[in-house]
Amino acid sequence: MSTAVAEAPAEEVIQSYVVTFMVRRFDPEKDAEPRWVDYDVEMYPTDRVLDALHKIKWDIDGSLSFRRSCAHGICGSDAMRINGRNRLACKTLIKDLDISQPVYVEAIKGLPLEKDLIVDMEPFFASFRAVQPFLQSHSAPEKGKERVQSIEDRARFDDTTKCILCAACTSSCPVFWTDGQYFGPAAIVNAHRFIFDSRDDEAQVRLDVLNDKEGVWRCRTTFNCTEACPRGIEITKAIAEVKQAVLTGVR
Ligand code: SF4
Ligand code: FES
Repeated sequence: MSTAVAEAPAEEVIQSYVVTFMVRRFDPEKDAEPRWVDYDVEMYPTDRVLDALHKIKWDIDGSLSFRRSCAHGICGSDAMRINGRNRLACKTLIKDLDISQPVYVEAIKGLPLEKDLIVDMEPFFASFRAVQPFLQSHSAPEKGKERVQSIEDRARFDDTTKCILCAACTSSCPVFWTDGQYFGPAAIVNAHRFIFDSRDDEAQVRLDVLNDKEGVWRCRTTFNCTEACPRGIEITKAIAEVKQAVLTGVR
């Protein structure tokens, strides 16, 4: 009696290829100006730009400096300009880039450049702190109970809870490039998150902060921020809602 043996399906071979990355390097101890340096790296289509940076750092030049932590789009530490667009390196797949040309990688704009792909994030976080991004309530919850909120009230600010503080929005904003004093979209998004929270009692404080000359009125509705946000937050809409709340006092 013969027994049929099922043939194992042939394994699909995924081809690697060499991709040229142009990385804008800057060493404050050696360079007067940033300079572009090219690296040829073997990549697979499902690799990410972050993988390319790791290969460069680990195999070619250990002095390359960049920030990253989670490598999965959660910590917000690896926002950078990739082919002129602000993106997270850990969420940008090689197969989604045109690799017939070099891939250009540089630090986000509008914040002081420290080294290679690292900028000083302090001005960004100073604006974030200024809008008091934490819950402030004048009353205590019922003993042993949570602060109750309806599904509709929670939905009011759901979109703006998604922010991971990557700065891709603020550093893509032409107003922020020309005026580093502007609070910027990320700070307004994080103010929105609490202004429209029915459990919070200090919305007016944040609205007063954002009614400043460097506040919401500097926004020129260019939508760069919304296009740059890796979390898909409707930033320009959130800014418009905050503007409306400043004018009407209605949340
Ligand atoms: S709003 Fe989006 S782009 Fe801006 S800091 Fe938050 S996650 Fe990043
Ligand atoms: S490394 Fe954390 S978001 Fe990319």
